[in-house]
Amino acid sequence: MKLRISLVVLSLILSTLIGFSFSQRLDRQADGAEKDRLLIGLSMDTLKEARWQRDRDFLVARAESLGASVLVQSANSDDTRQIQDIQALLSSKVDVLVIVPHNGKAMAKAVKMAHEADIPVIAYDRLITDCDLDLYISFDNLRVGEMQAQYLVDTLPIDRKSRLVRIYGAKTDHNAVLFKQGQDNILAPHIASGRIEVVHEDWAENWKPEMAKKITNAAITNHGATFDAILASNDGTAGGAIQALLEEGLDGKVVVTGQDADLVACQRIAAGTQAMSIYKPIKNLANRVAEIAVAMARGKPVIARKGVHNNQVEVPSVMLEVTVVTKDNLRETVIADGFHAQEDVYRNVPDSDRK
Ligand code: BGC
Repeated sequence: MKLRISLVVLSLILSTLIGFSFSQRLDRQADGAEKDRLLIGLSMDTLKEARWQRDRDFLVARAESLGASVLVQSANSDDTRQIQDIQALLSSKVDVLVIVPHNGKAMAKAVKMAHEADIPVIAYDRLITDCDLDLYISFDNLRVGEMQAQYLVDTLPIDRKSRLVRIYGAKTDHNAVLFKQGQDNILAPHIASGRIEVVHEDWAENWKPEMAKKITNAAITNHGATFDAILASNDGTAGGAIQALLEEGLDGKVVVTGQDADLVACQRIAAGTQAMSIYKPIKNLANRVAEIAVAMARGKPVIARKGVHNNQVEVPSVMLEVTVVTKDNLRETVIADGFHAQEDVYRNVPDSDRK
């Protein structure tokens, strides 16, 4: 109840802020110095993983269909560069700023800069902490970690101990921490009972596949080919881990998890070298963000029902649902949703082996 009230209050504050920003924009228009289209600034951490290019393309397409233009910057996983990108977007007089932070804590400074220019900020997919953020839109990331771990709990044998390698994402990414927390929630009782033993674990700097490969190589060096599963936190790290397994002739023999339902990961699932991924319908995410950004820029109130605490405030938040993808449901999930084409997913699999 308390949360709901504070969120209503926050959305009122938000509406006021947006109203103010909108009237500033109209003033600038009256000066004759204003562009005639709404302008959204999109500052991205990276475009390296396949998903981010699609996030960008979906967001730009939806915004354009609503009469807005999008200026896009990508910071190549560098905080200093991301701050400079955001300064450039603010100088271009964007009406609203959408940020995918490389480092959720470091981008608090960017939110402050935007607010000084009366520009509202939406955190896209990753939370920005320690600041007065206007809105956070993502998937239920704790749930993603829980689903990854639950898959292993349901798949690994129950009559003997299973040995597990864990590969976390970038320490600087708040989502990576949430994925780990979700995994911990599910694994804890099984580790306590001795059914699962974590033999090796590490964080993959900047989510790099080559770091995941190194972590897997280290696990193989230290423990030999004695583990049953690799709990990789996304498809990029799963790819690095599977490459290390392949070089040892272990691909397809170790259960590997992932997340994002990237095309290459779905191909590995179809071929049997990756066991699962998590499908996050990023088109819905990008569309929602474009729609909300345009509404904010037009000074319309935005209602968010959920609140996520970011160390400073309860941030109005929108969380979208996710789905587990395995060999058994590729057709009903990513293919049925038009996320990937059937011929692409099964490209490397002979007809006779297609489920
Ligand atoms: C996203 C994942 C992505 C990872 C690496 C996370 O914040 O939630 O979908 O795989 O970053 O880019």
